[in-house]
Amino acid sequence: MKLTIFGKTLQRELHLVEFNARACAQVLFGGMGATRTESPYGEKTTMTKVPLLDLTQQYLAFKDALLPELEAMYASQQFILGPKVEALEARLASYCRSSYACGVTSGSDALLVALMAEKVGVGDEVITTAYSFFATAGAICRVGATPVFVDIDPVTFNIDPAGIESKITSHTKAIIPVHLYGQCADMEAIMAVAKKHNLIVIEDACQAIGAECTLGRAGSIGDYGCLSFFPSKNLGCFGDGGMVLCQDDARDKTLHILRNHGMAPQYHHHLIGSNFRIDALQAQVLLAKLPHLDNWTAARQRNAADYRRLLGDCEGLVLPAEAPSTTRHVYNQYIVRVKGGKRDYVWEGLKSRGIGCAVYYPIPLHLQECFASLGYKAGDFPESERAAAETLAIPIYPELTMEQKEAVAAALRELTA
Ligand SMILES: Cc1ncc(COP(=O)(O)O)c(C=O)c1O
Repeated sequence: MKLTIFGKTLQRELHLVEFNARACAQVLFGGMGATRTESPYGEKTTMTKVPLLDLTQQYLAFKDALLPELEAMYASQQFILGPKVEALEARLASYCRSSYACGVTSGSDALLVALMAEKVGVGDEVITTAYSFFATAGAICRVGATPVFVDIDPVTFNIDPAGIESKITSHTKAIIPVHLYGQCADMEAIMAVAKKHNLIVIEDACQAIGAECTLGRAGSIGDYGCLSFFPSKNLGCFGDGGMVLCQDDARDKTLHILRNHGMAPQYHHHLIGSNFRIDALQAQVLLAKLPHLDNWTAARQRNAADYRRLLGDCEGLVLPAEAPSTTRHVYNQYIVRVKGGKRDYVWEGLKSRGIGCAVYYPIPLHLQECFASLGYKAGDFPESERAAAETLAIPIYPELTMEQKEAVAAALRELTA
């Protein structure tokens, strides 16, 4: 079966476009609070602009702790691996209640290295959700394996475990559940089916650092857990970075060797790895931000509670819900469903009112052009397709003011009326 395999460079460019679009939105709508504007009818009105994400305010919280550390690093000129990376690995393993952590170049590469560590390759199948960021399926293809998609649960947007077992064949090696938007997938059901069929579980926890369910913290439940430190994540660095968590000493050693060209000892390669090393600079940034993460998560949860209070009775919307197995939703994104086929109208209306919003994701994975050779077609995964057509992400970042949340809610009420 022929697959179009996206190269690393192209994937990063695409991702960059996504982030630059967010950054532009930030510039466009970056001004906080109320702005006087001219209405189409000539009178002056007061409009509260709300960016989808504003990282500039967050920077002020840790800047004073970070800058002297960066100066010391510049003086030492120690940029590759070393004590900062080791410290971050120890701190994040502990934060995620995991035995081991291995810092890598990105969340995409975290998924890739975990698959490489399990020698997943050509002829193997990996079961995953049809509704996620591209990197989840991209990593499977980059090792030469075939992604096998399963539809989502319409309430949580996460893989529907009831759809997994019928997709298991003698070629299936692993399951990659994604904890989308900051809420864990149904790990009890997924771990049970994985155990029954002796499959590896690689949690894509890129959007869910610190999330919890009945089985524990995101990334610490399966055989591997993958984190992303892309700037828009709840713990973002100043560029790209990622982490692979695992619970097994031998697996951790393999991950560390693979991320450094499969080299151990120096210039001896018994495995083929690559340069998947996280930068020491990014490790330092993350060490400075980590002490704030729980406060930022609490603020996101308060924002979600405020939206529920402000929009709970809005008939044109379905607000996000927490599954019974969810014990900590970290709200990397706040996703509403817009009823009555009005999503694109509401999306445009919010943008024209200076309210940042986005669609994550407009095309489910099984309908992506690069997977055409897998033979999926429209209608195969109705819930993923419905989510792609109905959902909208609205601002949820920790520093949102009450005035901004009220402005978002008022605009949504008006547009869905
Ligand atoms: C669910 C999911 N998986 C994987 C990734 C890839 O992470 P990164 O951007 O760090 O490569 C992301 C990032 O957006 C993601 O949201």
